[in-house]
Amino acid sequence: MDVVVALEDVRARVRDAKRGGRRVGFVPTMGALHEGHLSLVQAARARADLALMSIFVNPLQFGAGEDFARYPRDPVRDRGLAERSGVNLLWMPEASAMYPEPPRVTVSPGPAGERLEGASRPGHFAGVLTVVLKLFALVEPDVAVFGRKDFQQAALIRAMVRDLNLPVAIVVAPTVREQDGLALSSRNVYLEPPARAAATVLYRALCRGVEAYRGGERRAAAIAEAARGVLAGQRGVTPDYVACAAPDDLAPVEVADAATVLAVAARVGGTRLIDNVVLGAGLEGDGHIAG
Ligand code: PAJ
Repeated sequence: MDVVVALEDVRARVRDAKRGGRRVGFVPTMGALHEGHLSLVQAARARADLALMSIFVNPLQFGAGEDFARYPRDPVRDRGLAERSGVNLLWMPEASAMYPEPPRVTVSPGPAGERLEGASRPGHFAGVLTVVLKLFALVEPDVAVFGRKDFQQAALIRAMVRDLNLPVAIVVAPTVREQDGLALSSRNVYLEPPARAAATVLYRALCRGVEAYRGGERRAAAIAEAARGVLAGQRGVTPDYVACAAPDDLAPVEVADAATVLAVAARVGGTRLIDNVVLGAGLEGDGHIAG
């Protein structure tokens, strides 16, 4: 595995690979790597000849009062994990190179960026789409892989690629979970043992929603209510939203179908966690790991 930092170096390396007829698969991350990130590397390797991962904690997507300063950073451990998972080229750009000055031009996510996560985190998706567009412009990947764990993010990136005619294929990979159902997240390291135990409530709430759907319930409000009841029953957890949404633009739906997404966000011991399930697919499709 090679490691590069400078923007011109990653550009040169990718162009060399492409001149040699190699397809480039790209996995953008913010580091603090876990099995979820590494599963995206496998998906990239299956579709490309060169697996490129970026690690960049993007200041633009953190709101005032969010955890940018204390976001977990462990470049040495990340390097080892990236190498073992089959990354060929690891790119760790510096903030001063990505943003020599605050950008005056940014990407507007449109109405789908105002819902759910966007409603709770104003400006978040403009920050995500702006950095993803910059990363795409710098590395010109043939294919880029994102996780379903951040469902709204993946939907917005697909929409950006379509609406702006970006020449990259987007792949969305299943959510990797701990044995007890908790979706892997870099932020899970914030969870002290009691909060870690309580955190499975997001998964349990999603299971209850799927159960209602499988039992024949199609009223989106009733499915969300069933899931909300589980969240509300867990001590130390403050629900943020529980909603059934359309898969493409995350608009609220009244009648659920197989493609409807049930999305939850909650604060668990001071840490904000999110999770989701596609009702028709259920949680069985997600990749569990040994915990
Ligand atoms: P980060 O949170 O580091 O996540 C990087 C990628 O890993 C995203 O596509 C995310 O959806 C995926 N991922 C996270 N947890 C996962 C899990 N349990 N299973 C499968 N995939 C998982 O998302 C970001 O960084 C940033 O917003 C980024 C896209 C890099 C832009 O800054």
